[in-house]
Amino acid sequence: MNSEQITKITPKSFGKTAAGEEVKYFELKNKHGMVAEVANYGATLLRLLVPDDAGSTTNIVLGFDNMAQYQKESPYFGSTVGRVANRIAKGEFELDSKRYKLAVNNGPNTLHGGIKGFDKQIWEAKPFDRGLESGLDRGLERGVVFNYISDDMEEGFPGKMSVTVTYTLTDDDELRIDYEAMTDKPTPINLTNHSYFNLAGAGSSDILSHELTIYADKYTPVDDTLIPVGTLEAVSNTSMDFKTATAIGARIDQVKGGYDHNYAINQNVSAAPKQVSNTRVGLAAEVKEPKSGRRLMMYTTEPGVQFYSGNFLDGSAVGNGGAYKKHYGFCLEAQHFPDSVHQPAFPNSILRPGDTYRQTTIYQILQK
Ligand code: GLA
Repeated sequence: MNSEQITKITPKSFGKTAAGEEVKYFELKNKHGMVAEVANYGATLLRLLVPDDAGSTTNIVLGFDNMAQYQKESPYFGSTVGRVANRIAKGEFELDSKRYKLAVNNGPNTLHGGIKGFDKQIWEAKPFDRGLESGLDRGLERGVVFNYISDDMEEGFPGKMSVTVTYTLTDDDELRIDYEAMTDKPTPINLTNHSYFNLAGAGSSDILSHELTIYADKYTPVDDTLIPVGTLEAVSNTSMDFKTATAIGARIDQVKGGYDHNYAINQNVSAAPKQVSNTRVGLAAEVKEPKSGRRLMMYTTEPGVQFYSGNFLDGSAVGNGGAYKKHYGFCLEAQHFPDSVHQPAFPNSILRPGDTYRQTTIYQILQK
């Protein structure tokens, strides 16, 4: 192995939680000057800085510059979300003939793991910085491995679970997120990252002129509480259709509340697959910001992606880029389908002892 040390990644202080726990963050920098800052609170992506025309950098994810705001008012900015991202109807489910009652935090439902999900926990953190290894043509990589032990019955979920989330910044301008989990009892699992992107710069404008493509012919229609009704419907000839690049704002007025929907990513198209070690990820979505020409490519192993157009942002949260108003950021949350525990026809989201859950998602930034 030919390992080269280019920078030493040392933790920096991000202050303390209200309970007095130390929060650390790490700065990952690649050879083009792209920087990802990740914190051990919620295994959160705080900032993603990309070089800009002015010879400076632009932060393209919404966030805050202090812990207090993350704890008080963050709508999952940059967080790792679990144990089950998205919604579980009525906060309960049955598994192997046992009924489980979960913490309910979203109308009648459980959202994003409950009241104190993975996004609000302190994770163990280990940075790494490695060079080009033989046979691995991905250039230099640096990152942080976060680990969290979720207790049996935490937020109502069965099984003690060990979870690892690894952020890696490559010299191909990719932020790769690899997830792994094991459990000692059967349990549902659905891990994702909840970054809000704005390719023009966090806080600078809304994202309605961003042009979005989602490689999905179908989506999962939902009821009034955003629970899937169980069918897959074609997006063709509807305001949900992003099969070809379309401005997010072009038809948003026709979608009640704005976009907050799960798309079933096409599995049959070999849309530019990438091979990362022994994992194959497919191109799920791409977004272009017309003024800067900046593009975001999203690759994932997951069957679904929640496209959320920042509908609940209302300007009250003022972050490191200014006030985050309605539609000032969009999320592309790679995931299993919402409420899978109640939908046997959806891809399985149950993890059993002895098996390992794995998820890989890559956000790659292309400049012009
Ligand atoms: C997800 C949900 C949304 C909303 C946001 C956070 O995208 O689907 O309804 O809860 O998270 O505000």
